[in-house]
Amino acid sequence: MSERAEEDTVAFEVKDGVAWVKFNRPEKRNCMSPKLNRQMLRVLESLEFRDDVKVLVLTGEGDAWSAGMDLKEYFRETEEQGLWSIRKSQREAYGWWERLRWYEKPTVAMINGWCFGGGYGPLFACDIAIASEDAQFGLSEINWGILPGGGASKVAVELMPLRKAMYHAMMGENLTGKQAEEQGLVTEAVPAEKLLERVTEIANELKKKDGHSLRATKWAVRRMTEMTYDNAEDYLIRAQEALHNFGGVATRKEATRQFLDEKSYKPGLGAFDTSKIKA
Ligand code: ACO
Repeated sequence: MSERAEEDTVAFEVKDGVAWVKFNRPEKRNCMSPKLNRQMLRVLESLEFRDDVKVLVLTGEGDAWSAGMDLKEYFRETEEQGLWSIRKSQREAYGWWERLRWYEKPTVAMINGWCFGGGYGPLFACDIAIASEDAQFGLSEINWGILPGGGASKVAVELMPLRKAMYHAMMGENLTGKQAEEQGLVTEAVPAEKLLERVTEIANELKKKDGHSLRATKWAVRRMTEMTYDNAEDYLIRAQEALHNFGGVATRKEATRQFLDEKSYKPGLGAFDTSKIKA
């Protein structure tokens, strides 16, 4: 097949409040080239503030989620051009992963197959990660003579126990989706035939929650990993108060009213009806 145009390296559709975004180079196992990285940032930016997007799902076309960085276009070709090109392509890749880590909307990684090396950047960036039990996860860097860069080592120690992360990085052996779940790399692994159904179920639950509270929550949880207890307590007070700028007082009053007065829901069992919030 002739080379894919930049705009075709990422596919997406918005359906029922969910943006389904796909790495779209199945013939290259969705490895990340500079073109794909540029296009992904464009797509993420175009979706972030759309009112009809409540949740974003990141998945892969074909049998891969992403086979990591493109060894030809991201490494070999940029190295041939010189340092300026290497740095440019690093910024393009790291740029969209960072954007995704702090995305305004909740994000779910739906890992349908291969996930290697650089793929750990977007994997970590997504708030929730649901894998097919037979997906394959690998820090394969050691198998081709580099170290797990681009944040991949950091992702491993953030998500996995140190002994597991070290073994994973040094041995270059793959984990199945099921093992990735056991070792903390993903939230949950489900049989391949249930993957879409489970992710849709999660997206539908997220859609029912108050979007401002969700955004504040996901950012707060991410910040917690690098804060002392006292700083965390303080940050959380400030973040809750900042929610007031987005109608947080009215939101909480309405949620409390539905529970205490209307008795129409129980917070311990599900979300309140956000459509009744008065601006
Ligand atoms: N970089 C460049 N090209 C790739 C990559 C990649 N990361 N992954 C797959 N491709 C290309 C192959 O070269 C091949 O191209 P061709 O059709 O022009 O020959 C095509 O995608 C299909 O790949 P196959 O290897 O034929 O597919 P298969 O299903 O047999 O194997 C697998 C899939 C295991 C994912 C294999 O492609 C592979 O090992 N890829 C590399 C994975 C990897 O180590 N990535 C780098 C991680 S480290 C980092 O990201 C920094």
